[in-house]
Amino acid sequence: MALRQTGFLVAVLSLVVLGGAMLAYHRGQVRATMKIDRQEAAGGRELYVDLCETCHGPGGNGAGGAPILNDSTVLQTYQTPARLGQFIQTHMPASDPGTLTEQETTDLTFYIFQLNHRRPPASG
Ligand code: HEC
Repeated sequence: MALRQTGFLVAVLSLVVLGGAMLAYHRGQVRATMKIDRQEAAGGRELYVDLCETCHGPGGNGAGGAPILNDSTVLQTYQTPARLGQFIQTHMPASDPGTLTEQETTDLTFYIFQLNHRRPPASG
C-alpha cells in the first residue's frame, strides 16, 4: 500500500516537473522568436527610413502622398507576412521595384506589422 502511494506520488511529481520544463522551454522559444522579430523590425526601420519614407511618410503616416501604412488598412489587404512581403518585393519601392533582397523584404514586412501594432502570425 505504502509502496503504491509512493509510486503514485512519484508519477504526479514527474508530471509536474515535466510540465514545468515544457512550459519553460515554450517560454524560451517565444522569447527567442520575439527577439528575432524585434531585431528584424529594427533593421526594417532603417531600411524604411532610407527607401520608403519619402513616399509613405515617417512611421508610415502617409505624409509623402503614398498610402498610409500604420492604420491597419494595409494589413487588411495583405493579411499575412507572406502576402505583404510578396507585394513589397514585387512592387516597392515604387521608384525601383524588384530591387529588395529577401532579407530586406522580411525586415520591412516585420517593421510594417510593428507599425500596425501587430505581431506577424507564426506561419503564413
Ligand atoms: C516613389 C514612391 C514610393 C516609394 C519610395 C515606396 N512606395 Fe510603397 N507605395 C507607393 C504608392 C504610390 C503606392 C500605392 C500604389 C500601389 O499599391 O502600387 C504604394 C503602396 C505600398 C503598399 C501597399 C499599401 C496598401 O495599403 O495597399 C505597401 C505595403 C508599400 N507601398 C510599402 C513600401 C515599402 C516597404 C517601401 C520601401 C521599400 C515603399 N513602399 C516605397 C509609393 C512608394
